[in-house]
Amino acid sequence: MRMILLGPPGAGKGTMAVKIKEELKIPHISTGDLFRAAIKNETTLGKKVKGILDQGDLVPDELTVALVKERLGSSDCSDGFILDGFPRTIGQANSLTEFAPVDLVINFTISEKEVVRRLSGRRTCKNCGAGYHVLFIPPAKENVCDKCGGELYTREDDKESSIHNRLAVYEKSTEPLISYYGDKGLLKDVDAGQSPAEVLSSVKELL
Ligand code: AP5
Ligand code: MG
Ligand code: ZN
Repeated sequence: MRMILLGPPGAGKGTMAVKIKEELKIPHISTGDLFRAAIKNETTLGKKVKGILDQGDLVPDELTVALVKERLGSSDCSDGFILDGFPRTIGQANSLTEFAPVDLVINFTISEKEVVRRLSGRRTCKNCGAGYHVLFIPPAKENVCDKCGGELYTREDDKESSIHNRLAVYEKSTEPLISYYGDKGLLKDVDAGQSPAEVLSSVKELL
């Protein structure tokens, strides 16, 4: 199964991708996670994109497409993959159609108000990248990752000004992908405003 998780920032794509990965045993590829790893490791790519991520703008298509193309070329992707946060523009979607056409696009629908609540309470593990929410999905011990014991932090782009910019960027550049994939007959909606267990069961019905 080759699938895309589409939806606004904070819809829960990353949270669900981790569960779908366990279910289907195919890799979870998050372009946001790949960029954050590059930033953490201070690579050439990381230095180029740090300011862009902090602001909540999009990394140029050229860089993003090259990164994904390389990742999808790995042998672990031969039985399928879960793309989380890619494609985000029509240009990226056209490239993907050329090098790795997908079978399914799950569109996470959610209100803007709920997205803001989710992003402003999100905490992320510095060490393994696992995601939490202070109210909705809290760790057992405050500010400590359940999975690896790492310290939790607030992403730079989860600060208020950046959240609003990301939502505007989503509406302008990414939302058009809903009709792009709808027209191809690949799109299925999931109500992402439900509890994590309910979202997962809605997703499973589509698999
Ligand atoms: P990326 O990391 O992809 O960020 P995003 O799309 O803004 O998405 P998020 O990770 O913020 O949200 P999510 O849907 O994964 O939600 P989550 O599961 O964490 O991208 C970051 C940046 O990288 C971009 O801004 C851009 O600069 C760059 N970039 C990445 N891809 C790019 C591309 N293709 N092209 C160009 N640039 C690119 O959940 C959110 C919160 O809600 C968490 O706290 C979670 O615990 C909680 N939660 C989740 N589900 C539920 C639920 N059902 N109920 C209650 N709480 C929930
Ligand atoms: Mg994410
Ligand atoms: Zn961790």
